[in-house]
This record gives sequence, structure tokens and C-alpha cells, in this order.
Amino acid sequence: MDKIVIEGGHRLEGSVRINGAKNAALPVMAACLLLDGPSRIKGIPNIVDIQTQSKILENLGGQIKRHDDGTLEIAFRDGENNDKYTAPYELVRKMRASICVLGPLLTKRRKAKVSYPGGCVIGQRPVDLHINGLRALGAQIETTEGYINATADRLKGTDISLKGKYGSTVLGTCNVMSAAVLAEGTTIIEDAAREPEVQDLANFLNTAGAKITGIGESRLTIEGVKELHGVDYEIIPDRIEAGTFMIAGAITKGNITLENVRADHLTAVIDKLKEIGVEINTIGNTSRVKGNNLYHNVDITTLPYPGMPTDMQAQFMALLCTVEGKSIITEKIFTDRFMHVPELVRMGADIRVEVSSAIIRGTPCLTGANVMISDLRAGAGLALAGLVAKGTTTIDRVYHLDRGYERLEERLSKLGAVIKRIRD
Ligand code: EPZ
Repeated sequence: MDKIVIEGGHRLEGSVRINGAKNAALPVMAACLLLDGPSRIKGIPNIVDIQTQSKILENLGGQIKRHDDGTLEIAFRDGENNDKYTAPYELVRKMRASICVLGPLLTKRRKAKVSYPGGCVIGQRPVDLHINGLRALGAQIETTEGYINATADRLKGTDISLKGKYGSTVLGTCNVMSAAVLAEGTTIIEDAAREPEVQDLANFLNTAGAKITGIGESRLTIEGVKELHGVDYEIIPDRIEAGTFMIAGAITKGNITLENVRADHLTAVIDKLKEIGVEINTIGNTSRVKGNNLYHNVDITTLPYPGMPTDMQAQFMALLCTVEGKSIITEKIFTDRFMHVPELVRMGADIRVEVSSAIIRGTPCLTGANVMISDLRAGAGLALAGLVAKGTTTIDRVYHLDRGYERLEERLSKLGAVIKRIRD
């Protein structure tokens, strides 16, 4: 297993380009199952999760070609693949977003067999809302031997609520919306997730001929159509990657420029960084982040969009470990997303977890240590802590980071970080 080694204490300077959003690209790729004709999708990051999704789609008959500029060509030959409807355990266990093929397969091929998904270990991750939504559209679904087995005639539009105990569901909204676009009649999804990645999928589907209104709101109306066509489309910039680099600039008291940023998708993140005392200026799709020595402690609560993303929680925690005073981070989306805490404590952080809150007392100096990544964003948090820790931090289980960040160490190194990968 590869490791990343960081020598902390180097200020970041320079500019970095933000990639297309992983969490938008994955459902958009799955939605290509719905289209008749090839599509060209720009801005797809070269990361392991995209490779896994490509394998799942190839297994389902997709022809996929990646170009060096990040464009993916995806084509399914209509009518030839109706006997292919399985997303196997060996692939699905690697990544939760593979569940996104369920809705498209069901509505287009009338049959789906999808393994229960895996992905980051961050607490309970049921799929009941996905299943209830698809059942409401008329699917017959049973689960046997670890697989979700679903069949349907043409799905029928209806009113569906996707409200769960922890708010809506991002991938559940993607699944039900993708299924409803080819259903007969009108579907109304109440309590839909509003995340930019869900909006991007809706915009992609509309470009392909779907009729979705209410995009970005919690009530989506989908008028079913008979067919969808291939499109040219560009994925939105990754707001979580942008937020991670913003904190890299902030934590090292650096001065960096981020290109290809949608600051309107990052309002909660940018507002919180400004409250901490980080200077952020955005012109068009370029954001400049300037750190300093006068940061303030803050409290953070993760919430569904437009609130603070749970996917930025570990990165903010790394930063707040270095800010004088007491900060409290409350995690409201996932039940067990503090696996990075014991690793940060190994680096000298003072953090106490009480149920769903982490109470952080900033320390003047983190120290390098051997740490282990438990999940993708925890890995980002540990890498950020390593950038400022005194001495050397060695990060193990880098494969988690590779799922979501393209060449993170190379890009940080170009900004002045002393960081290298040790290949196994
Ligand atoms: C997406 O996961 C993202 N993944 C996650 O990012 C992100 O943390 C999450 O949304 C929340 O923003 C992708 O887009 C690939 P949810 P998703 O369904 O859709 C509960 C990353 O690091 N729930 O919105 O799986 C669930 O347990 C990843 O890139 C149900 O109760 O998340 C959680 O508490 C990690 N029943 C809450 O809803 C369901 O059927 C939100 O989960 C589904 C979810």
C-alpha cells in the first residue's frame, strides 16, 4: 500500500486548477445508461472512483473512452444490452455511488440486480429511501443474498418524499430522478436533495431531453419522456476539492489561487473561512486564498446543502486544531464520521468527542506522526494537518485519498509543500 510522507511547515504559494466534481460525475456517468446515442462529458477527474464506475458501466455493455483532457466518451448500443443488468459485488463494494445505476437500469432495461453498496466507512448508510422511492414508481424490489433485485414494467409517475432521519438523500434523489425521467406521467419528488451535484445531474438529463423543473429546490417535478439522446456536457467544478485546497492555503498561512471554482457552491465554506479570519477573494471562477496569523476559533455544524458540507468536516477540523481557543464541530449527516480524530490526536491535537460533537482546543503546534486514513475526507484532513505539523507525517492507506483526489501530492508539491508518495 502506498504511503504519503509530508515534511510540515512550508507555506503554500501559487495556483492550482480544480477538477470536475467526482460526486457529480459518478451519477452523470450512470445516467448515460438512459441515453440513446453517445455522449461526451468533459471535466471528469482521473481518480479511482471514476475508474470503478467505468468498469461497472462496461460490465453493463458501455463503451467508454477516456481522453487526456478529462473528456469521457460513453456510449450504450440501445437494444443490445438488455440482458445486462447486474452490478456485481466485486465492483460495487468499492464505492457507494455505484448504487446510481439502479434507477437508470430499472427504467431503461426494466430489470436491475445491484449489490448492496460499500464505500467510505462513516456510519450507517442504508438505502431504504432509494428503494422506497423506486417502489413508489412501481418497481418490484426484493433483497436477496446481498443484492437488490428490481423489476418493473414502464414506471409510473407519482408523488414521492425522500425525507429521512438525517435529511434528504443525495444519491437517492439521483436514483429516483433518473428513474422518473423515462416514467409515464409526472413525478413530484418532495424533500429532494439540493446539492449542486444533484442539480448537475438534473441539468445533464435536461440537456439530453428530460423535463425536470425545480432544480436546486427541495421539490422537483419530472415530466416523463419516451427517450433521451446523447449530449456534450461539462461537469461542474468540485466544491469539496476546492474547499480542501482553500484550507491548504489557510492552514499554511499561504497565498494561493484556485482556478475553476464555483464560489456560489461554496458559500457556507467560504463564509466560515472568513469568520475564522482567512482572506478569500473571488473574481469570476478564480478564488484567491490568503492566510495570516490571526485566526479565531469557531463552531461548525454540518448540514445538507446549502449548509456546511459533511465532506468538509475533517478538513475544517485539521484547521481548527491549529487555531487558539475552543471550537466545536457537530456532525449532523453521518452517525460515525470522526474516525480522523484519534489520528489527529496522535499528531498532538486536543480533541474530545461527545456523541455527535467534537470539542477542539487549538494547540500552537501539531507534530508529525504515523497516521492511517479511515475514509476519503479523513485522509484529506490528515494531509492538511501534515502540511503544518512540525517534523514528518507519514500517512498510510493512501488508496482512500486516490478515490477522490487526482494526484493530490503532486499538486500540493507544485504549491510548495514538501510531500512525496512512497509506492509499495
Ligand atoms: C453523498 O453520499 C456523497 N457521495 C457523500 O460524499 C456525501 O457525504 C453525502 O452525499 C452527503 O452530502 C456521493 O455523492 C458519491 P446521503 P450519499 O444518502 O448520497 C441517510 C465523499 O466523501 N440515508 O445523502 O450516500 C444516510 O445514512 C462522499 O465524497 C438514509 O437514511 O449520502 C445519511 O445519514 C462520502 N437512507 C444521510 O441520509 C437512505 O436510503 C445522508 O446520506 C439513504 C441515506
